[in-house]
Amino acid sequence: MINFKAIFTAQLASVLNGQLSEEAITDLIETPKKPAHGDLAFPCFTLAKAFRKSPASIAEETACQIQGPYIEKAEAAGPYINIFYSKEAASAVIMEKILIEEKEYGQLNDGADKTAVLDFSSPNIAKPFSMGHLRSTVIGNALGNLAEKCGYKAVRINHLGDWGTQFGKLITAYKKWGSPDKVKENPIKELLSLYIRFHEEAEANPALEDEARSWFKELENGNKEAGILWNWFREESLKEFQRVYDMLGIHFDSYNGEAFYNDKMESVIEELIAKELLTESDGADVVQLPDEDLPPCLIKKSDGATLYATRDLAAAFYRKAAYQFDHSLYIVGQEQSIHFRQVKSVIKKMGYEWADNMTHVPFGLYLKDGKKMSTRKGRVILLEEVLDEAVLLAKNNIEAKSPGLENKNEVAEAVGIGAILFHDLKNDRMNNIEFSLEDMLTFEGETGPYLQYTNARAYSLLRKADDLPSAKNGLSDSYSWEITKLLYQYPEKIRQSYMQFSPSVLAKYLIDVAQAFNKYYGQVRILENDAGIKARLALVKAVTIILSDGMQTLGMKVPQKM
Ligand code: ARG
Repeated sequence: MINFKAIFTAQLASVLNGQLSEEAITDLIETPKKPAHGDLAFPCFTLAKAFRKSPASIAEETACQIQGPYIEKAEAAGPYINIFYSKEAASAVIMEKILIEEKEYGQLNDGADKTAVLDFSSPNIAKPFSMGHLRSTVIGNALGNLAEKCGYKAVRINHLGDWGTQFGKLITAYKKWGSPDKVKENPIKELLSLYIRFHEEAEANPALEDEARSWFKELENGNKEAGILWNWFREESLKEFQRVYDMLGIHFDSYNGEAFYNDKMESVIEELIAKELLTESDGADVVQLPDEDLPPCLIKKSDGATLYATRDLAAAFYRKAAYQFDHSLYIVGQEQSIHFRQVKSVIKKMGYEWADNMTHVPFGLYLKDGKKMSTRKGRVILLEEVLDEAVLLAKNNIEAKSPGLENKNEVAEAVGIGAILFHDLKNDRMNNIEFSLEDMLTFEGETGPYLQYTNARAYSLLRKADDLPSAKNGLSDSYSWEITKLLYQYPEKIRQSYMQFSPSVLAKYLIDVAQAFNKYYGQVRILENDAGIKARLALVKAVTIILSDGMQTLGMKVPQKM
């Protein structure tokens, strides 16, 4: 792609007679917010000393000397030099590039021959897939897609919570109050109510906690009955999670969860001992992390039980060996940030520099009435029910607006689920989100369905047109120029979005594109049979390419007819 900024930079560098390096010029160049200030702007303040003149007069004298391909004019505006591209020439090259490359436009090389491992979703077995896990799932999947767009090989890992004391509780509760038929009929709901009942009854009867602890011990020691129940709970839960992943169109390369590391922790513990990092504290084995200003990382409890952190240490070594990662991302709520700092610090202390490539990607909570949603208190909303409801609502909407549409069910799924995905991804990930089904399912404003509708509208224009798109000539009106400038930025937005591990960068950008396009649609007669029709159709086609690819990168589906 033509680098317009570089053309301007070279021009300025020669006009300024080497007073500033090209690099320094590039750094100073700004992108004006208002179209009236041009497409690029250069502030002259830093030149005042060298030229012994006011920035405004430098701007005045320099602007008139600037000329070049794709530059229509350069204007002095106070201390700034404002550059206006020649819209027609520039839009022709931009659109041509997008039309030729299609899905390849925005495909980068940054991560060539590199691997990004992404640990996300990672729900806990025998607990429902809650809204809390939704964020990890959709952010993680979008980051995986973004990594791939940046050229990385992405490895998606579901670090299932399939080990831990909760299994002692579940086994206890199941043996006391459960029935096999009920579990078979409605596994997660039944397991959840057993789990909730355990906590309710344990408040009055603390002996239950002891029983749960000893069942967990049995499980760790290989007790057959405990093992069979564990496996059964795990299988039934996985079936249910799988249904959600299918609805969301998400796949994983590995479901190695916490239990997978049962036999992989001992070697890490031995290495910690050999490196004299393990110390005793109240009977437990810990790694002290005073220099890092962190609480000690608990490796083994006084009863010998291993911990969440022990498994994450083993997992990090396993992943490094298995995938040789360049990035290892953990998409997990911010409430676990100390945990991940501890794990990383321990690996660093063991002498492994690659710990620097491990990044915790935190995010805020879903709140309900301002409170954290918790599994124990039953203050939980089942994701699957939310998804079903969203799809139903989308279906009603379609039934009302376009009853004759083909593939109504498919479109309703794309729209309902798209609404939920986008509602999450457009938020800066650190923000808490108040859970409101109503908000999520609004199909207007800055929503997923708005993007999908806009894209389908563009597709429909292309179907209706009597002519074919061609970028042989460009466009010179200001509405199309606003869109074209945005489309030009797409590769850079992909890069930013991944480098900041923030799908919201891409999500917000797509809203900008859709809004600019809808403005154009409202102001310009796109299908008018005049000399400009081919170029206008080229722009419409370029919009569908970017919107479709961008939405797919976020994990959404893109119906061509709605
Ligand atoms: N299962 C955990 C939870 O629900 C998340 C696991 C995140 N991944 C990890 N490697 N620790 O809180």
